[in-house]
Amino acid sequence: MSARSVTAVASPSLALVKYWGKSDAKRNTPATSSVAVTLSGLESRTTVTPTPPDSEEDVVYIDGAQQPAERFSRFFENVRRVIESDLHFDAKSTNNFPTAAGIASSASGFAALTVASARCAGVDLPPENLSAIARVGSASAARSIFGGFTHLAADAEQATTLFPCEHWPAFRIVVVAITTSGKGVSSRDAMERSRRTSPYYQSWLEDAKLRSEEARTAIEKRDIERLGTIMRLSYLRMFSTMFSCDPPIIYWHPTSLSLIHLCETLRGEGIGAWETMDAGPQVKIACLESDTEVIIRRIEELRPECRMYVCAPGTGASIIETDEW
Ligand code: DP6
Repeated sequence: MSARSVTAVASPSLALVKYWGKSDAKRNTPATSSVAVTLSGLESRTTVTPTPPDSEEDVVYIDGAQQPAERFSRFFENVRRVIESDLHFDAKSTNNFPTAAGIASSASGFAALTVASARCAGVDLPPENLSAIARVGSASAARSIFGGFTHLAADAEQATTLFPCEHWPAFRIVVVAITTSGKGVSSRDAMERSRRTSPYYQSWLEDAKLRSEEARTAIEKRDIERLGTIMRLSYLRMFSTMFSCDPPIIYWHPTSLSLIHLCETLRGEGIGAWETMDAGPQVKIACLESDTEVIIRRIEELRPECRMYVCAPGTGASIIETDEW
């Protein structure tokens, strides 16, 4: 039985080891294996209602702005196929952090949309199946269905949990929001351009195979230094494929670079600050709770204009409200 409306929440999935490139663009499966952490405190909140029976359109609003239908058409077609229904959906989503600026709002957004749409249609699916549905929208969203530390293998349809939130309570990510303006090139287009035009793309795929297993072991041992070293290799090699595109893609802002250098200085002083970046100028810093205060103070001194969010390993996507008929 379908519901009148369902509201779900999900948090961004920050990749410690990056997914960059697709093994199959139609299925939207990743070419590289990724390891991520779901971020507490940052959240997409999505309310889904079925559209009237004669309606043939799905409508999505994010932070009040209607989204282009083509970004969602394959996702909703797949939802209807899986739930064996011809329902169409009206979705309204809000983020409590900057949208489409490299803080993985598509991961949390599609995860919340998946969970709310399935329940709205009256189907109860296990997280594995929800993860596979979310992946069609955005591969990183397959990870956001789960909490804690997650893994999405190369060519996989669904993500898995590596370790729950409680495994490493002292682990923190400081998200430094440098600018709230959206990105110029979507991560999807940037991946495709990397595949088509970067002479380093094949080497990236080859090298990336090693990183996920190494990261899993570092997380298992709660070894921030080992994990941080792997994170840096992963994001800097991912960006090497972008810098070497034709035309090149440069998401970095001067402030991004100054924060990368600050992390290097902090590590030189014995403070474990390990940065990573995604398809945008924001810098995310992995550290331990005990070092968070000093890291924040040093960022404030250097770049007082930056907004910061301190996140612990967070929980997976969930339903927070259902209005039944
Ligand atoms: C750099 O999941 O946004 O954040 O599957 O095309 O929607 P699509 O891409 P998306 O890409 C995320 C790329 C990344 C790294 C990561 O999250 O693993």
